Amino acid sequence: MAAETPLFITLEGGEGAGKTTQIVHLAGLLAERGVKSLLTREPGGTAIGKRIRAVLLDPDHAGMAPETELLLYMADRAEHIQTVIRPALTDGTSVLCDRFFDATIVYQGAARGLSAEWIGRLHDLLFAGLKPDLTLLLDLPPEAGLARARRQLEQGVRAGGEGRFEAESLDFHQRVRMGYLALARQEPERFRVIDAGRDEDRVRRDILAAVEMFLNRRGDKPPSN
Ligand code: TMP
Repeated sequence: MAAETPLFITLEGGEGAGKTTQIVHLAGLLAERGVKSLLTREPGGTAIGKRIRAVLLDPDHAGMAPETELLLYMADRAEHIQTVIRPALTDGTSVLCDRFFDATIVYQGAARGLSAEWIGRLHDLLFAGLKPDLTLLLDLPPEAGLARARRQLEQGVRAGGEGRFEAESLDFHQRVRMGYLALARQEPERFRVIDAGRDEDRVRRDILAAVEMFLNRRGDKPPSN
């Protein structure tokens, strides 16, 4: 049976956590359950967003002011919410998003040092505090994630020239991890923490189980075949 109201699900985590692979598995699960979904990402979920993404992730922009960085992520999100996320939800389509607002609280707040309260106020003002129904946090030690992410950049698995955050210190990425775990503790109803340090199939099964449980609790029944 299809979901009665569309879902907004986000995947979050540090670099190299495997979100981009796992979100595709998740889209498959929702399709099996008869839930129509749209797969998207931040930054870069729109044509304008792709250009903003290129500016944000260009390693030549290493010295970007934190406020510039914050406003560029917000600009990407404004376009994304207006032209992709809200229209999909209004149309009854669930949205699966690779990163959203929690990433701003963690990267520009906890890691970069801007006020999380201030970022939250901006989000409320601009986007009426739009929040996901469910957030899957793919957690792993930054040493392992960074090694994976840097390998993908070298091998061209990820678009070249996107390495600005991979070039940040281990300390920065540790703050990212701690920031995410703190958010998960603050909002245990919304977050599910998944151990992303294991092989892809184990992580996939944990994610699917977490989402199945969420759907069942919400009253969506699995298909009867
Ligand atoms: P991605 O590699 O997961 O697509 O994300 C690109 C980078 O952007 C990643 O290093 C995290 C960072 N980021 C922020 O710093 N703030 C944000 O609000 C978002 C959405 C991403």
